[in-house]
Amino acid sequence: MSRRRIFIVLGTRPEAIKLAPVIWACRARPAEFETIVCLTGQHRELVRPLVDYFDLRPDVDLDLMTPGQSLAELTSRCLTKLDAALAEHRPDVVVVQGDTTTAMTAAMAAFFRRVPVVHVEAGLRTGDLNSPFPEEFNRRVVTLAAALHCAPTERAAANLRAEGVADDRLLVTGNTAIDSLLWARDRLKSEIRNLNFVHDRPLVLITAHRRESFGPGFDGICTAIATLAKKYPDHRLVWPLHPNPQASEPVRRALADLANVELIGPLDYSGFVLTMDAATLILTDSGGVQEESPSLGKPVLVLREETERPEGIAAGCAELVGTDAAKIVDRSSYYLDAAARGETRPAIANPYGDGRAAERIVDALYRLTIVL
Ligand code: UD1
Ligand code: UDP
Repeated sequence: MSRRRIFIVLGTRPEAIKLAPVIWACRARPAEFETIVCLTGQHRELVRPLVDYFDLRPDVDLDLMTPGQSLAELTSRCLTKLDAALAEHRPDVVVVQGDTTTAMTAAMAAFFRRVPVVHVEAGLRTGDLNSPFPEEFNRRVVTLAAALHCAPTERAAANLRAEGVADDRLLVTGNTAIDSLLWARDRLKSEIRNLNFVHDRPLVLITAHRRESFGPGFDGICTAIATLAKKYPDHRLVWPLHPNPQASEPVRRALADLANVELIGPLDYSGFVLTMDAATLILTDSGGVQEESPSLGKPVLVLREETERPEGIAAGCAELVGTDAAKIVDRSSYYLDAAARGETRPAIANPYGDGRAAERIVDALYRLTIVL
């Protein structure tokens, strides 16, 4: 069999983090795969440091991002430029991850050219097309186009089966987020040995960027953080802001004057892993952070009305609190007070993965290429 050309498309921060182990695993089999890495550039500053950190070595950079991009204009530019890239590189398989505009348009462009699509992190669903918006729509489109569905959990696989995806096109792999996290944690340990150096005061880590929370949702979160900052004056509340001005400006307006609230720019991945590890509590609407936190033993309050990641909630590592200020304050206080009393949390196995997802995905990718 000739070497198969694998075209791996990524555009945003979480795709870079979650596809890095897949890129490495493909490159580790040069006799079988020619690996082409394509950045759409949907994100710019957020992805640039990850290219170096994970040694992604992109072959194609479509450099698409524009400030304040609308979903429709981003979609149309991505689709057109990806189609041209596929015409030029003529891959045998296209690999996409998750539910971003990059993933959706890459899956569509490949489908239109009749190139099989492998979907990494397949089968996540809330059941509500408007939440998360537009990601629930995007991932359903990717499912329609995919030839191979790599579900991170049994629950995600069950969602796909319920939609009629056949078992021979579906496998449970774990989430590659955990591959990357464990790799980064080991690297940090060998670099600095002591991950506790930032534990001088209790730290609460906050992130938020979801479109469906713009407006009242962000107002509720900010009111909660202001209340917590006053209630726990000896705690640090650290919020690495997303570069999207719609997600950062309301936060700056509401919280800039509070002495123990630290509004900082996005952290590079190793800095973020260190900060998660230092945190007593994490408040987030991020998908990736929900997946990573169980490996670090950190409780997470999910700042959303629903989540496509119910496994962490079922395992007792996360709670869904939405964006209501009173509820966020109440549940945060519960965890912060318990930590102040010295109560420790039992270690649990991460329900999202064991660090070997990429290996399973690339084995399945190889099996798919044999039948092409
Ligand atoms: C995107 C994904 C979302 C994912 C998130 C991860 C879509 C529709 N949304 O949301 O699923 O959870 O990434 O962070 O695909 N910006 C910069 N620099 C950057 C990145 C973004 O300035 O490096 C600003 C730009 O003004 C850009 C805006 O943020 O126009 C929005 O970026 P976009 O990728 O459209 O949406 P996100 O909210 O980042
Ligand atoms: N992350 C990071 N720096 C930050 C915030 C997050 O490196 O300042 C990482 C985090 O560890 C996770 C990923 O980015 O792996 C999550 O990205 P994001 O929250 O933007 O997207 P989502 O996962 O919600 O799609």
